[in-house]
Amino acid sequence: MASFLQIADDEKGHELELFCVPKHYENDLERVIIPHGLIKDRTERLARDIIRDMGGHHIVALCVLKGGYKFFADLLDFIQVLNQNCDKSVPLTVDFIRLKSYCNDESTNSVKVIGGDELSSLTGKNVLIVEDIVETGRTMKTLLALLEECNPKMVKVVSLLVKRTPRSCGYRPDYTGFEVPDEFLVGYALDYNEYFRDLNHICVLTEEAKEKYKV
Ligand code: PRP
Repeated sequence: MASFLQIADDEKGHELELFCVPKHYENDLERVIIPHGLIKDRTERLARDIIRDMGGHHIVALCVLKGGYKFFADLLDFIQVLNQNCDKSVPLTVDFIRLKSYCNDESTNSVKVIGGDELSSLTGKNVLIVEDIVETGRTMKTLLALLEECNPKMVKVVSLLVKRTPRSCGYRPDYTGFEVPDEFLVGYALDYNEYFRDLNHICVLTEEAKEKYKV
């Protein structure tokens, strides 16, 4: 049984003109690869799978900022809908951590913790880490090692995207929305040097745009 939606390497995606894209990004994007509606539909199902597995206990949802904020908000909305419409429900609280490793389109090889709540508050808790994308897996491995020191009761990881890349260290999250090709993707809070978070669909960036927004 498939545990993620696979976007093939030769997936052509959709022409930008078929969707609403902010005017200021029109020339920076090749194509829409995952439309916003499909992201939401897949997220709804992830919420159901997570509640099925973790639903017996209080969950602390830990958002990995900044890229995770859109997925986090939508996932939690779907979990809340399940909670208010089922015979059984589970208390849900939230926490945030900010990690950074990318500059331009490259991993800097060092994952910096640059903000967030005290992780010690997660001791003894059932933690659901919510991430936008796993590429090399370095960010998640670093975070899991940090969390381990705080002795949580259970840790599960959900990532909206996992990239098929030879740079992967082999780490796979417990729940994955989509497995995507090795291209630089932006939108739905995924950024390129802080740009493109204000775009609803997940899109492929043009080479020209990488130059234009380079730091
Ligand atoms: C991105 C993304 C993940 C990480 C994944 O964060 O949000 O946290 O990279 O890459 P990895 O698997 O190769 O470690 P980034 O450093 O760009 O910070 P941001 O979330 O603030 O955009």
